[in-house]
Amino acid sequence: MQLKVKIRRYDPERPGKDRPYWQEFAVEAEPGDRLLDVLNQVKWYHDPTLAFRRSCAHGVCGSDAMLINGRNRLACKTLVRDLGDRITVEPIRGLKVEKDLIVDMEPFFDSYRAVMPYFVNDEPPPAGERLQSIEERQQFDAGTKCILCAACTTSCPIFWVNGNYLGPAAIVQAHRFIFDSRDRAAATRLAVLNQNVGVWRCRTAYNCTEACPRGIPVTQLIEEVKRAVMFQNA
Ligand code: SF4
Ligand code: F3S
Ligand code: FES
Repeated sequence: MQLKVKIRRYDPERPGKDRPYWQEFAVEAEPGDRLLDVLNQVKWYHDPTLAFRRSCAHGVCGSDAMLINGRNRLACKTLVRDLGDRITVEPIRGLKVEKDLIVDMEPFFDSYRAVMPYFVNDEPPPAGERLQSIEERQQFDAGTKCILCAACTTSCPIFWVNGNYLGPAAIVQAHRFIFDSRDRAAATRLAVLNQNVGVWRCRTAYNCTEACPRGIPVTQLIEEVKRAVMFQNA
């Protein structure tokens, strides 16, 4: 099929093009091609200056989240046949654009680091493993599927107006450890999330849940963290 692909471009170093602008490309593609294949075609055969992140091409690394036909998705998991023959591609919102579809992910990872996304337990280790029941493991299973693509956080209207909001991805990561029966730092994480940039900013808009390419029930996890904060402070 013949596609018209409109891409939002930006190059701070290009004279006359130092503001965002749209560029359209005519590309031939198969319905089963992924948008990532289409972007590669544009880069390889039309304009090698087009900048976008990608790595695994299989929905694992989380590097190619972008706004595709108005929705946050991964380019490598989005098929052309689901997009029609006129496609628009923009960078994810709420983070500074560095070039074309590449945004500055540092503020996103600052929020990630703020919730201590790692296992904390200073108790002497048991002789064997730190055991956990199947039910205990299931309590935080959803969050383990997160690939840190930022599709959720950058689809959140609260984040768009206040970039200091830690955002759904950081809360999902916090959830993964708060509800791990082996971890001992839940109180510290909940204190961070109880601050004014934490969970109470969330207004249950659900954009994050709709955007997540891993099918994580993001809003539900945020609600569970809100309840944990309230329960801890009761
Ligand atoms: Fe991406 Fe989903 Fe993780 Fe958000 S929760 S960063 S959308 S994988
Ligand atoms: Fe934003 Fe998701 Fe809450 S979109 S407002 S974090 S439910
Ligand atoms: Fe790795 Fe798409 S390129 S998730």
